[in-house]
Amino acid sequence: MNEIESREKAERPSVLAVEALQKSFRAGSVSVPVLTSVGMIFREGLCYTIQGVSGSGKTTLLHLLAGLENPDSGQVLYRNQDISRFSRKRLAAWRGQAIGLVFQAYHLLPELTALENVNLPAMLFGRQDAQPGWELLKAVGMIHRSHHRPSELSGGEQQRVAIARALRNDPEILIADEPTGNLDEETGMEVIDLLLGLHKSRGKTLVLATHDPRLAQRGDRQLVLTGGKLEHADRPSAPSPSMPDSPKGSSESRLEPESKTFS
Ligand SMILES: Nc1ncnc2c1ncn2[C@@H]1O[C@H](COP(=O)(O)OP(=O)(O)O)[C@@H](O)[C@H]1O
Ligand SMILES: [Mg+2]
Repeated sequence: MNEIESREKAERPSVLAVEALQKSFRAGSVSVPVLTSVGMIFREGLCYTIQGVSGSGKTTLLHLLAGLENPDSGQVLYRNQDISRFSRKRLAAWRGQAIGLVFQAYHLLPELTALENVNLPAMLFGRQDAQPGWELLKAVGMIHRSHHRPSELSGGEQQRVAIARALRNDPEILIADEPTGNLDEETGMEVIDLLLGLHKSRGKTLVLATHDPRLAQRGDRQLVLTGGKLEHADRPSAPSPSMPDSPKGSSESRLEPESKTFS
């Protein structure tokens, strides 16, 4: 990739951004800080992986990104709009349509078939058409299990259905929280291949939390959550002015130290 192409890729529009995000939880009488100051821009169509040890705050950060929880301070910006200003109704509509969520534990409804689970997010918005659900089940290689219930599916198959469900409202952003955490290594890799393939072919921004360094390496941008801060994996400390590759004059460098290579 030449310099101009790299630059174009670096300047894709921001789809989601966080600024000075802080979140603590109460444990008895003490407040335990989880996120101390998180700033990052998530750009259209790129895959961001977030690594961090258990308890580092990955799930907390993803919940804030999806508007499932509120930060103590700081902002979550969706296309430069502060989501804390959305009404409750608008926030729910935004989350349902702009964000597709994939969880470690699948969270399929046990009484519904695979097809019904996939179509559920659309039904919540009054759309009854089953056809997109079929097409998504086909895309994740599960068409032959359309009428099966989750208890009749393996873990990997349930996660494929959950990925199809996350795509049902054609969201701009996919957020996946340790999606391979309950799967064996081989099945986990297949699920990641599927998720990365769909992110690329459909141009979705993907934010993927994982504690597996091999999976993390597959992101366009590899981030690490440590000590309550989110940093680029290849650049653990803030770039100093003397570093030859530090961003020059970028108003966003405070939020998004660009990585050295673009893929
Ligand atoms: N609802 C909550 N109440 C109290 N503490 C919480 C809550 N959610 C998370 N925590 C704490 O915040 C820290 C980060 O948790 P989490 O975001 O789940 O980390 P990770 O996903 O990286 O394992 C942990 O110490 C956890 O115990
Ligand atoms: Mg977690």
